[in-house]
Amino acid sequence: MKISFVADKLAASGCAVIPVKKSLKTGGAGVDYIKAQGKQFAQAAKAAGFNGEKGKSFSLYAPSGLEASRVFVSGIGDGKDFDAEMFGAKAAKSLMMQESAITLHLGGMDVSPDAAARAAVGMRLAAYRFDQYRTKLAANKKPVLKTIKIACDDPAKARASYKNYHGPVCDGTVLARDLVNEPPNVIYPKAYAARIKELEKLGLKVQILGEKRMKSLGMNTLLCVGQGSVRESQMVIMTWNGGKKGDKPACIVGKGVTFDTGGISLKPGANMWDMKGDMGGSAAVVGAMAGLAARNAKANVVGIVGLVENMPDGNAVLPGDIITSMSGQTVEVQNTDAEGRLVLADCLHYASTKIKPKAMINLATLTGAILVALGTERAGVFSNNDGLAAQIASASETTKEKTWRLPIGPEYDRLLDSPNADMKNIGGRLAGSITAAQFLQRFVGKGIPWAHIDVAGTAMKPSNRHDPRETTFGTGFGARLLNRWIADNFEG
Ligand code: BES
Ligand code: MN
Ligand code: ZN
Repeated sequence: MKISFVADKLAASGCAVIPVKKSLKTGGAGVDYIKAQGKQFAQAAKAAGFNGEKGKSFSLYAPSGLEASRVFVSGIGDGKDFDAEMFGAKAAKSLMMQESAITLHLGGMDVSPDAAARAAVGMRLAAYRFDQYRTKLAANKKPVLKTIKIACDDPAKARASYKNYHGPVCDGTVLARDLVNEPPNVIYPKAYAARIKELEKLGLKVQILGEKRMKSLGMNTLLCVGQGSVRESQMVIMTWNGGKKGDKPACIVGKGVTFDTGGISLKPGANMWDMKGDMGGSAAVVGAMAGLAARNAKANVVGIVGLVENMPDGNAVLPGDIITSMSGQTVEVQNTDAEGRLVLADCLHYASTKIKPKAMINLATLTGAILVALGTERAGVFSNNDGLAAQIASASETTKEKTWRLPIGPEYDRLLDSPNADMKNIGGRLAGSITAAQFLQRFVGKGIPWAHIDVAGTAMKPSNRHDPRETTFGTGFGARLLNRWIADNFEG
């Protein structure tokens, strides 16, 4: 996709998109488009049943007196809560199959340069596809959109905002989507680690730990999840040193189960294929790190992902096995399908002791229970620190990756007590997402502000995608939020 930012003038070709209010009024170049139509504009609007209502639209083809081949008139209601990003997303969704070049007009609408840059992001996300394995896709099922022009009041500032922030962060979101959408025979731990290694070209330092190294570190809860798989488990540490030398880093950690069969506690067959997305938390971390590096973020950040495949096998971990984690705490594995927390336990302990971060957030497609609680609309946030939880709420508000905080506490923590070991890996039927969070918290170093974001309902969506920016199973949820969190709190 070719993206550019231009002055808000009549487009010389292609499809022009103009926002129009209920009064049939608009601003900027939109006024000139309407003027060129004379009386016909109101007549055309009437014939199309268009009244400027939000979500309604109509097209003027080969409009007289204009060089554009089409004017797409898009309703914005009273214009008060005009959201340029969503406006761009809806336009791209409607037009991407027919128009190769779109000029999105945002002039005279009180759209800030930042919002104009985000309009380009909205369009890119709405036009995102994952079609590379479809060899028989008919030509008319392929998007034709190639060129996007954002026409706005301050194109220089919008261009800079896109180049220095929103563009690279969107690249990171697209990378996260690709990783989640890829099938599990392509993205398995070693192949995934190799893809992450490629990000060194952006200036990230990437260190890969194999099973031998993890064994010597005592990372047995992570390793036990992968022990039924022929594919070797990996832990990948991505380091970005864009901040002051010696400044303690922030740390982001992701669950990267490249496929979750459930292990010996085997999942049912129906929809099991969706479990290729059980690395969605790690994909957000990888996408976020790529974004931070590409935009040269002025902060020190370490990203850690635990990559494993959860398989049943003669060598697989058994219900009842007691495993000693890197922290020394022992875990009775009562359910091998509660594997994400086992992977994260060692990642969080590694991060706490080796990185000693000033704050730490982990993302994981951790529990089906979070879907019961919040559906696919919001991710669940669990935190030991109100300040950090507020930072996440604010970042989430800005990027519109919605979250909701849920409680943790000792009354939930005791549900993990086991008569045979320091803890068991399941808490029982009740409060499943909370007991999962409690399990993670046991591996977070004392005094480290920490939050867990359960993205099981938001990072992968087999259905329920009403947001025009979400076009595929993999949503990329979290990559933007993490960039925002770093930008707002660690970049001075
Ligand atoms: N990866 C799943 C959680 C999940 C479920 C993600 C549905 C996305 C959609 C996780 O590993 C899991 O299996 N969790 C179990 C935990 C239970 C055994 C305590 C669950 O949610 O059923
Ligand atoms: Mn599982
Ligand atoms: Zn899982």
